[in-house]
Amino acid sequence: MADTVTLQARSAAFWTGAAAGWIRHADRQDEVGRPLGAPAMDRLAARPAERILDVGCGCGGTTAEIAAAVGETGAAIGIDIAEAMVAAARQRFPPDRYPSVRFRTADIETLDVVSGAPFDAAYSRMTLMLLADPVAGCTAIRRSLRPGGRLAATVFRDGSVNPWLFAAMLGAAPHLGPLPPLPVGDEPGPFSFADPARLARVLSVAGFTAVTITPRDITMDAPDDADAVAEWLIEIGAAGAAYRAAPPAGQASARAGAVRLLERFREPGVGYRLPAGLWLLTAVAARADKPSAAGCPPVTHHRQPRQDENR
Ligand SMILES: C[S@@+](CC[C@H](N)C(=O)[O-])C[C@H]1O[C@@H](n2cnc3c(N)ncnc32)[C@H](O)[C@@H]1O
Repeated sequence: MADTVTLQARSAAFWTGAAAGWIRHADRQDEVGRPLGAPAMDRLAARPAERILDVGCGCGGTTAEIAAAVGETGAAIGIDIAEAMVAAARQRFPPDRYPSVRFRTADIETLDVVSGAPFDAAYSRMTLMLLADPVAGCTAIRRSLRPGGRLAATVFRDGSVNPWLFAAMLGAAPHLGPLPPLPVGDEPGPFSFADPARLARVLSVAGFTAVTITPRDITMDAPDDADAVAEWLIEIGAAGAAYRAAPPAGQASARAGAVRLLERFREPGVGYRLPAGLWLLTAVAARADKPSAAGCPPVTHHRQPRQDENR
């Protein structure tokens, strides 16, 4: 496993390079990708006048959703490491139309606290598993919360319950130039929190208490537009930068390769159903600015909810 400084540099470079794809597909990500964060948004239960932090806000869709809940007397602050995504978020949700929304470019791992702290709550969709030093990142989140402030977030479980995730990349890769190194071990990547015990340890050391980690199975429904779905999934994944650098013929072959591997998720004439297995995590900021208790406090691992509870 690479050292933390190397991983942080790799991650910053990756997200700088990935930004163009995320910006291009921001509307699709908000709409089709919404179920990826919906369980945490429900659990966050943002209330009017609250001040809420959105960590790894990307192009801002979830921050705007939080802003709608907290209203004009509250605040929704989205932070992201990728400057271009933050610029896109500001354009999509400008202050004259979204007065309680603010966006900041910041690496959560390098902050003591997020400016504007303390917040009542923090939310994060699909970001915490990407932190090179998750203890540093989660500690900064916890310090940015008022004592007793709450955290609600989602991360992926493992690859077996997220089969679509690598399909686009594997289909596209043979037609593209070199891809960034795939994560090994606990290196930041989609499945670095596959083991809930690791996630629990990280949150505990970061000073969170009342940690719950619950499996959630969701489905993303995308329209029956094979080329568009393939391009979206290539561009927001590890092959995105190589895809954008490829000539048109290479891009067409890459899309065709991805379409083939994504076919199993397609119902012709209906659309794509992309199953995703998540951890829904909730926690509360401990009152003292130090790791809670000796070792890990008890963590509640909940059963898989029935489908009708799964929202
Ligand atoms: C998988 S994307 C999710 C984006 C958004 N939450 C969504 O669901 O559409 C992960 C996001 O985390 C951001 N990110 C990664 N590492 C970060 C860090 N150390 N500090 C802040 N943001 C980070 C990336 O730039 C990217 O926008």
